[in-house]
Order: sequence, then C-alpha cells, then structure tokens
Amino acid sequence: MTDLAERRGVETELYEPAEDSALLAGAAVDGVDAEDRVLDVGTGSGYVAARVRAETGAHVVGSDVNPHACRRAAEAGVETVRADLVSPFRAAVFDVVTFNPPYLPADEDAARDDWVEVALTGGTSGRAVVDPFLDKVGRVLRPDGTVFLLVSSLTGIEAVVQRAGERGFSSVVVAETSFPYETLVVLKLVR
Ligand SMILES: C[S@@+](CC[C@H](N)C(=O)[O-])C[C@H]1O[C@@H](n2cnc3c(N)ncnc32)[C@H](O)[C@@H]1O
Repeated sequence: MTDLAERRGVETELYEPAEDSALLAGAAVDGVDAEDRVLDVGTGSGYVAARVRAETGAHVVGSDVNPHACRRAAEAGVETVRADLVSPFRAAVFDVVTFNPPYLPADEDAARDDWVEVALTGGTSGRAVVDPFLDKVGRVLRPDGTVFLLVSSLTGIEAVVQRAGERGFSSVVVAETSFPYETLVVLKLVR
C-alpha cells in the first residue's frame, strides 16, 4: 500500500471511511430532511449514505464505479447502483446529492488504473472527476436541490467554486477541518 493510501485508509479494493467521510456526513445530515431523496455519489463503503439515512430518515441511494464498493455498500444496507457519476439517473429526481470525490492531484504519469487511484486521485489538477461532476450534477437535481461536495485545499477550492459558479451554483463552506498538509471543506452548492 502506498503512503497516500495508508494515510487515506484505502485498502486495495475500496476506500475505508476517513476524516473526509465524517466531515461530509456531518454536514449532509444537518442539511437533509426526512422527506428528501438523496444520492451519495462515490459511496465507497456506504458510510455517508448509511449515516444520512440513519440520522435523517431520508431515502438514500449510493452509486460508485467500483464494483467492490457497490458490494460493500449493499452489504451495509445501502441501495446501490454501479454508475459513473450521475449517468443512469433520471433528471430532477434528487433533493440532495453528496460526493466525497477523488480529489488529490496525481503525478502526470500516474494512471487511474487501480481502485486506490480511482478513489484518491483526480488527475494532475485534482479535479478530473470533480469537474465533470459539477458539469453533470445539475441535471439530476430538483430545481431547489442542494449539493454537498467535499474538497481539499490541494484540489484548489477557488477553482471548484468558480466551476460551480459557471454551472449556475453559488457555493458556501459549511464545514471545515485542517491538517498540517491540507484543509478539507464541505461546499454547499445551491442554484
Ligand atoms: C474518496 S472515496 C469516498 C468514499 C466514501 N464516499 C467515503 O466518503 O468514505 C471516492 C469514491 O468515489 C468513487 N469514484 C471515483 N470516480 C467515480 C466516478 N466517476 N463515478 C462514481 N464514483 C466514482 C471511488 O470508487 C470511491 O469509492
């Protein structure tokens, strides 16, 4: 296991919940009502999805590209769909979408060819998955829907806020925690 993977709690097959998972779950729980339909993109073990469902009573679906993650989340009782971002979902069906994405910048020659890389890294900018997510998430959100997106100072928070703005979202930081090497924030995006 790489140092990076060890630090982030990634086993070889899927991402184990870490500080970022808990920060996102706490922020989402505060912003979700029992009547809401919630999509947790990149659900991994299903930790965020399961917490939101248990602590709010909302209906929560998890999605992930990683089949091992889908299996683990399903075993945790999360309704799970194997999917690239929001591609299989109908338009305007979710009140809330949560995402703790792969957000760390990677070396130019690092391919996203194993589940550790898929969980952690977002290309040289760190935004290779965040950017298409921002481009596509508006389609599946109800008009007054909300996105809770975890990002790191290493991802370029201003660049994420700018891209979200170009897609019609205003952003506010609703949770934050700092480490010696980075700051993690949860952005709440609304239109
Ligand atoms: C940092 S992990 C977060 C896992 C879990 N949500 C948590 O907070 O513990 C990122 C997750 O996003 C998934 N992922 C990466 N690219 C994706 C994509 N294009 N569509 C859906 N899921 C993706 C990874 O497989 C991984 O499970």
